[in-house]
Amino acid sequence: MSYARIAVFVSGGGTNLQALLDAQKSGILNKGKVELVISDREGCYALERAEKSGIKSFCFIKKQIGQSLFEQKLNEMLKVNNIDFIILAGFLSILSAEFTKAWDMKIINVHPSLIPSFCGDGYYGLKVHSAALERGVKISGATVHYVNGDVDGGPIIFQKVVPVYKKDTPETLQIRIMKKAEWVLLPKAAQQLSQKIVKQKEKSNEK
Ligand code: GRF
Repeated sequence: MSYARIAVFVSGGGTNLQALLDAQKSGILNKGKVELVISDREGCYALERAEKSGIKSFCFIKKQIGQSLFEQKLNEMLKVNNIDFIILAGFLSILSAEFTKAWDMKIINVHPSLIPSFCGDGYYGLKVHSAALERGVKISGATVHYVNGDVDGGPIIFQKVVPVYKKDTPETLQIRIMKKAEWVLLPKAAQQLSQKIVKQKEKSNEK
């Protein structure tokens, strides 16, 4: 049975990667399979999660090799592993317009707010939630979207609302959004794109 081959780019704890791996086990993600994990941060726990699940993983440090060699390495790994699409899961490196154009509508990102609020340059990790709490929002949530040349700017795929409580800190809000929104939406979006790619593969095999 054909399936979509997925690469996940990570930088941190890898809880979104774990949500994808758990979704494969539970059958929520049954048309796609994480075949490759690439990190831009040495020793991040996401790499340990990949290793524990027996998934091929690599680490390329953009600061050390520069943007163009970094993306050349990414593309080499994606090609060698026949990857169909990419998921950015807590990935902090910005990809060039050239790279995202080459993977147009084949890169998915999860952002911990309801885009277009609290997104774009400088809005990542806890900073997103601090800004939301400072603004006094009553709801927040997560967005899964396609990646294009603009930071957090591509077409929105799914969004999920999460309540904000008076006593919330950036940390309590972050974990609620991860649990109730990010870890739900990302596998759903991965399955949806996987189904589309499997259909395309089956059609091209029929020809
Ligand atoms: C989370 O805040 C997530 O919203 C954002 O990156 C952070 C770390 O994610 N996308 P992970 O635990 O490394 O998946």
